[in-house]
Amino acid sequence: MKHKKDVVDIVNDSRIGETVSVDKNTVGSLPVVKRVVLRPVGYPLRTVDEGKSPEITTDDAELFSAYATDQWNGTLVKKNSFLFDQYIYPDFAFKVVSCTPKEGHITYKTKIMLEKIVKPLSVSKVKVSAEDIIGQTKAKEKCLIIKKYLLEPAKFGEWAPKNVLFYGPPGTGKTMMALALANETQAAIFLSKATDLIGAHVGGGARRIHQLFENAVNCAPSIIFIDELDAIGLDRRFQSIRGDVSEVVNSLLSELDGLNPNLGVVTIGATNAPEILDPALRSRFEEEIEFTLPNREERVKLIELYAKRLPYRIEIDSDKIADMLEGFSGRDIKEKFLKALLHKAIISSRSIIDSQMVMEHLKSVISFKNERKVKQLYM
Ligand SMILES: Nc1ncnc2c1ncn2[C@@H]1O[C@H](COP(=O)(O)OP(=O)(O)O)[C@@H](O)[C@H]1O
Ligand SMILES: [Mg+2]
Repeated sequence: MKHKKDVVDIVNDSRIGETVSVDKNTVGSLPVVKRVVLRPVGYPLRTVDEGKSPEITTDDAELFSAYATDQWNGTLVKKNSFLFDQYIYPDFAFKVVSCTPKEGHITYKTKIMLEKIVKPLSVSKVKVSAEDIIGQTKAKEKCLIIKKYLLEPAKFGEWAPKNVLFYGPPGTGKTMMALALANETQAAIFLSKATDLIGAHVGGGARRIHQLFENAVNCAPSIIFIDELDAIGLDRRFQSIRGDVSEVVNSLLSELDGLNPNLGVVTIGATNAPEILDPALRSRFEEEIEFTLPNREERVKLIELYAKRLPYRIEIDSDKIADMLEGFSGRDIKEKFLKALLHKAIISSRSIIDSQMVMEHLKSVISFKNERKVKQLYM
């Protein structure tokens, strides 16, 4: 079975669905569309006992575009119209979610792509809880309200915590805290990096952000975690260099403003440098939660916690080592100190990490860190 009409339009425009095979910049009075984004929506019908329509995706965007222009060449499209596959999955429907310009004909020059689906991290994969986070007592206290809100969003109404900023040095537990919140409330969590939200095309970033928020609303209660916020939220004075960045900030601002507080969606932005954030963006975060480098006592706990998890026996005086690791974050202690130490032991085929090895490694790690500090000072 094939559709006589390739396109069905929801507003019943009589021109929609006409197929003309001309390859110019305009066809009749309508332009050629440059870019079409499709959302796979499934078959128009199914028998009652059948399962849902299959999920459709592609591994090769260019190949998909060639396949799509080949079958829909000459078809008139606009936003919200439908296209039906004719070959691989006959009659499977795609909805046009965006079209540039707004309306026109598909030709071989049109770039047709599938909408990128942003899926939440599977909650069952998140095993972190607040107890696993060492220190950050104030941050934990402040996060309690987010936890309560995610558990019972309806109770809060207009007083819901909506946008929260986590700030502080890298590797201090900001991502961990967001994961712990999701785990303890069984909320969906969307982890994204600000830099990934900037699209490759103009308009791509805005669309991605809109999708992200749309998906989070559909999965509520949910957390949208936007890491490295400073990468896009940079003060406007620095943004003029990249127009697409300010486009992303603007759409982020409008999504943050547009969220309905009853839904149970919390946006958490994370940054190491809150002071360089665009003031308009920064002001949207009603609460700023600081994450600090671990103090001596916390470093002892971090060393003990992660040393215990090493697959090798280790002779380590956590008290003494903690003194020497001042300025190290939780991540530094785990990755730069303990992980590198383990790798050294594996390479030298030792079955135990003795105190001499610990001390030698410590020296190299500290001098490396200091060297970098000196470099940063003179840059
Ligand atoms: N306070 C902490 N308690 C326990 N582990 C920590 C802590 N801070 C960092 N870590 C370790 O470092 C890793 C990176 O931390 P992360 O939460 O990604 O830091 P951030 O998001 O602040 O850059 C964590 O997965 C964890 O292993
Ligand atoms: Mg992080």
